[in-house]
Amino acid sequence: MTFVVTDNCIKCKYTDCVEVCPVDCFYEGPNFLAIHPDECIDCALCEPECPAQAIFSEDEVPEDMQEFIALNAELAEIWPNITERKPPLPDAEENDGVKGKIKDLER
Ligand code: SF4
Ligand code: F3S
Repeated sequence: MTFVVTDNCIKCKYTDCVEVCPVDCFYEGPNFLAIHPDECIDCALCEPECPAQAIFSEDEVPEDMQEFIALNAELAEIWPNITERKPPLPDAEENDGVKGKIKDLER
């Protein structure tokens, strides 16, 4: 089992999640973070930390966001590790809650 970052992280990237992860399994792209499914120990600490409520347990990922399960696995393999919190993206507040941001995902 793993936790999964989903749509609402895109263009927000608050990074509160990385601060609490005991195994440092977050990976950073330009406007999204991904969790490495083979490294996540399923501790659930990150889920309540995300101000955008973008993190779900794999078995609780909403129906319309199932593609994020494979996307996290794919991107965590190619992006660099992130272990420290940094400022959110400049337009995080305006983009928090906007639906369907996957079209804006930058690789
Ligand atoms: Fe890290 Fe735990 Fe979140 Fe997995 S569930 S990404 S181990 S904080
Ligand atoms: Fe993204 Fe939430 Fe972490 S917005 S960077 S999953 S705190």
